[in-house]
Amino acid sequence: MTNIPSIGIPPLAGLASYEEAARPGYGVDENVELMRRYNYVETRLYQLSAAFINPTPEWEVKGALSLHLYLDAEHGLALRNRVAELRRPPLYLDKCPDERLETLFDEAQQAKDTIELLTGIFKVIRPALLAAYQKHLAESNPVFDFPTCRLLKTSISEEEQMIGWGQQALAALLISEDDHATSSSWATHLEAFLNHAGGVSGTDAVDSNLPLPELRATEPFVADVDPKRDWRSGEIYNFHYRANDVYLDPEADYDERVLALMYKRFHEMDVPEMMASIVLQTPGKPWEYYRDMGRQLWDEARHSMMGEVWFAKSGFDWSKYHNHVGWGMHLNLDREPIDRHIILYFIEQNLMDGKTGKRLEWKIAQSAKDELATYFQDYDWADEVLHAQIGRRWLKPDVGDVKAILERAKEITKMSSPSIDARSLTTPQIDWWPDFVRDALGKESTSQAGSEHKLIPTFSYVASGEG
Ligand SMILES: [Fe+2]
Ligand SMILES: [Fe+2]
Ligand SMILES: [Fe+2]
Repeated sequence: MTNIPSIGIPPLAGLASYEEAARPGYGVDENVELMRRYNYVETRLYQLSAAFINPTPEWEVKGALSLHLYLDAEHGLALRNRVAELRRPPLYLDKCPDERLETLFDEAQQAKDTIELLTGIFKVIRPALLAAYQKHLAESNPVFDFPTCRLLKTSISEEEQMIGWGQQALAALLISEDDHATSSSWATHLEAFLNHAGGVSGTDAVDSNLPLPELRATEPFVADVDPKRDWRSGEIYNFHYRANDVYLDPEADYDERVLALMYKRFHEMDVPEMMASIVLQTPGKPWEYYRDMGRQLWDEARHSMMGEVWFAKSGFDWSKYHNHVGWGMHLNLDREPIDRHIILYFIEQNLMDGKTGKRLEWKIAQSAKDELATYFQDYDWADEVLHAQIGRRWLKPDVGDVKAILERAKEITKMSSPSIDARSLTTPQIDWWPDFVRDALGKESTSQAGSEHKLIPTFSYVASGEG
């Protein structure tokens, strides 16, 4: 192949042999057409995860959907950036490239339960996307289309990780024969629509003998943003919650203050639940908005995982206590999306205060000489700095400068909270903190903070919310 004398060092930066590099891959137009389709699939996967964070009860699924939503946001952004480099204006990427793909996703979001949801995403759609990415990478020129190959490699490894988790999660849920039947008939249903679209790439042979089943999606989709939990979160409308008060109580022992702090972290699953409703109900923003919000949503899920890991290390069973959903539920049901975002920003802005905010939380963990909690609070604090920037970036064009946002936040905090009022009337509001301390620390609680439950009519969601 080559006539030049070799001195033994691999040519072409080691990416390929001359033979491999001399094989043309996809032309620019063909490359762009495929990436448009992938981008559509990534966008719809993002929306699918966001739509099911609230109605899906299983705790672990909420955490994984939060990660997946963020990764798909990054995959979409990389595709968009690459297409823009290939002589295409980015706006054209917000149009659906193929109505048959649209039908596939409209059907997938009709999943009736977690089994159908996981079947659609992890048995049908992601494996098809992964296969398309692998084929695209194998057929691309590793030197002359290097940027495309690089983004595909990253997406392939992340899609593989997601599919690995999803298939294990689905296997855990398939217990009865009925479960298996539900899963396989839903997979067959969605595969028919995938096949009709020619697969993710649109180039797979269409099996014309396969008839299209009757559509489940006969009406416009409305996402359920009322948070559900599995039995391990206890009574989710018991809003008696003291962790926010106890960690700040100077009268309390440091080990109890850290316990409260770690419960606060654990409790943060309500932030992904709340943010999912914002991105779902705020259409038409630039993709960078959904990426930034997706990143923050995933960070908040990780903050909840900080508490979850700390409890796991302590051998502590959190399922015995009531992990209420009030903050996210109230904002999702009682407030407009922009007002939810303003409240989130308002809380996070307050957490930047050097004396009372994240710095203090970190100091409390240090004072308790708890190495793991100190480490967690260190990163929690760092993440909040990014979140305050994200809030400012996206609220400014719609609401105004920081002063205007904070003024609006104060107005919102004076508004009523009908969802909290209604549900707290029908659910006993029980103080579980003393039992929790006894079980976790093997001693009596040293704090009275927050023991007077002042819920109705002045539920302070600002105080009980985490950023
Ligand atoms: Fe993805
Ligand atoms: Fe945050
Ligand atoms: Fe957080």
